[in-house]
Amino acid sequence: MSMKFPIERFRKAATPLYYYDMELLQQTLDKIKGSVSRYGFNVHYAMKANANPAILRRISEAGFGADTVSGGEIAAAINAGFKAEDIVFAGVGKTDGEILLGLREGIGCFNVESAQELEIIEQLALEERKVARVALRINPNIDAHTHHYITTGLEENKFGLDISVVPQMIQKCMQSKALSFVGLHFHIGSQITTLEPYRMLCERINAIQNDLEQQGMTSIKSINVGGGLGVDYDDPDKHPIADFDPYFALFHNHLKLRDGQQLHFELGRAVVAQCGSLITRVIYVKEGIGKRFAIVDAGMTDLIRPALYQAHHKIENLTGAGRELRQYDVVGPICESSDVFGHDEMLPEVHRGDLIALRSAGAYGEVMASRYNLRSLPGCIAE
Ligand code: LLP
Repeated sequence: MSMKFPIERFRKAATPLYYYDMELLQQTLDKIKGSVSRYGFNVHYAMKANANPAILRRISEAGFGADTVSGGEIAAAINAGFKAEDIVFAGVGKTDGEILLGLREGIGCFNVESAQELEIIEQLALEERKVARVALRINPNIDAHTHHYITTGLEENKFGLDISVVPQMIQKCMQSKALSFVGLHFHIGSQITTLEPYRMLCERINAIQNDLEQQGMTSIKSINVGGGLGVDYDDPDKHPIADFDPYFALFHNHLKLRDGQQLHFELGRAVVAQCGSLITRVIYVKEGIGKRFAIVDAGMTDLIRPALYQAHHKIENLTGAGRELRQYDVVGPICESSDVFGHDEMLPEVHRGDLIALRSAGAYGEVMASRYNLRSLPGCIAE
């Protein structure tokens, strides 16, 4: 089985472009909703994964909340129809301006990552005569066994608070009329492909809750376990929708939620990765010494994941059906040696003008595009 691409539309369109299969996105959203409604959990879509307006609108219409990391994301979430109270705001470096925006919009929660940040949120909330709802992001020190650039839950990472400072910060919230303590936030990393790290996270949270309760802190209304569920980049057609059921069931089975306590998730990649592909045209085929290059019009400026994380996105020649397989390095036009999408790829013979799909590019693709080399940003077809 292979995803159906509107190739005739691509032929007429300028490339490179991101193609989003909105039907597949809808199926993914329906699947998540079916799975979480069984347990009464909530999902805030991590919009850093893809903030394309069509995608955001569809996700807000499905009733999800939004996990944001900047003032720009808060504004885009509100524009796309997310309710302010369903928006959470994370990040180690929230500026005063961004905090003020969150306060004025009345967002659901600030996920706080340092003692100084809590001071500033309190001060700004007092000035604005508002109450800031805050959760404390704890660094759980769990190794998610993923690429070191996308591991976030280890002590050596810049994210979150050490557990030792948390009780005094909860106390501070309790004593302040401008702060309302909502709960605890965690996130262990991204593209996590086994459930074991999540089981460890549940155990860690259980222990933390026990400890805090023993110190008399019982008002934890919500637990937010972040995101990170991975997808299959090697075979996007085999599992176009991530395996959500076992993931949510694991939290249901292992996390000891207290009465009335809510559980929140912040999934990004698993929601949008498989519904998107980067569509690019072959500009030239070049015979090198012992190498044959397919030079395409997309580069690391359109999809940086291969250059930045040594990621591999499955490459397909959409217009080469029936041709003999040949071996290519698929490369972009940018003046950097890391501008390579694949080495020794076996593809149906590639001709100038062929359309190539780089699959599983719906997450951390379009949003990470840049204008390096003064290129244009990629286009988009969402249908
Ligand atoms: N919550 C927090 C606090 C996060 O930092 C992240 C991702 C998420 C949720 C969503 O994680 P997801 O479900 O998408 O794994 N650019 C990298 C990924 C960076 C992830 C950053 N944080 C990549 O292309 O692989």
